[in-house]
Amino acid sequence: MTNAIRLGVNIDHVATVRNARGGKLPDPVRAAQIAIDAGADGITAHLREDRRHIMDDDIVRLRKTISKPLNLEMAATMQMLDVALRTKPHASCIVPEKRTERTTEGGLDVVGGREHLIPFVDQLKRAGIRVSLFIEPSIDALDASKAIGAPVVELHTGAWCHALAEGQAAKADHEFGRIRVAAAHAAEIGLECHAGHGLDFESARKIAGLPQIVELNIGHFLMGEAIFSGLPDVIARMRRAMDEGRGVLG
Ligand code: PXP
Repeated sequence: MTNAIRLGVNIDHVATVRNARGGKLPDPVRAAQIAIDAGADGITAHLREDRRHIMDDDIVRLRKTISKPLNLEMAATMQMLDVALRTKPHASCIVPEKRTERTTEGGLDVVGGREHLIPFVDQLKRAGIRVSLFIEPSIDALDASKAIGAPVVELHTGAWCHALAEGQAAKADHEFGRIRVAAAHAAEIGLECHAGHGLDFESARKIAGLPQIVELNIGHFLMGEAIFSGLPDVIARMRRAMDEGRGVLG
């Protein structure tokens, strides 16, 4: 399949449920292996400064046990850089992080934060880690990401998905238009383009139709649906939705 689109499964919220009781179960590493067996192409985990879900030991165990690439989401801090350089994930996605937010609310300020970000991108790259920047779907953010030296960007799809969920059709069309233009621009300037945040079956099917986007990272919806139909089932359905959207299935 030459034009396939990769599915990265974010397992943060398995750890959220585990941490609600402070024990070891459910184990996000077990979820990662089940997701891989069911068709995930990689695993994503966000080690937050406050360790509200994924913990340091989860990253170590994921790195040791899973058979597909690990994408470590991290803020651009010295502590996180140290974790990345010690554990050497396949990829690191640099995200903005605020303690008071429920989830990653917006893209990185790559224009204003350029000087801060450059040394992080450089050191991760030198360690052989594939670096991506989680950005808003804007031309300015893409051009700044290229100038910073990141080989990959992940477009924040939150505004689009939120508009879809709220039934705001005109806003959703506008936001999808921004994503379409951004994905095309990323390819033009030689950036590998990923996308994620808030995606479900329908939005993943639609965005998979943009040929420049080569990877989707999806978490919350998958883990929520897994409560009702099980993780292997929901991963298989997401895989199918993405392949249909891509046109690699009938
Ligand atoms: N990509 C990035 C960079 C994220 O920060 C998140 C949320 O942790 C996701 C993808 C997945 O978002 P969701 O859990 O809404 O599918």
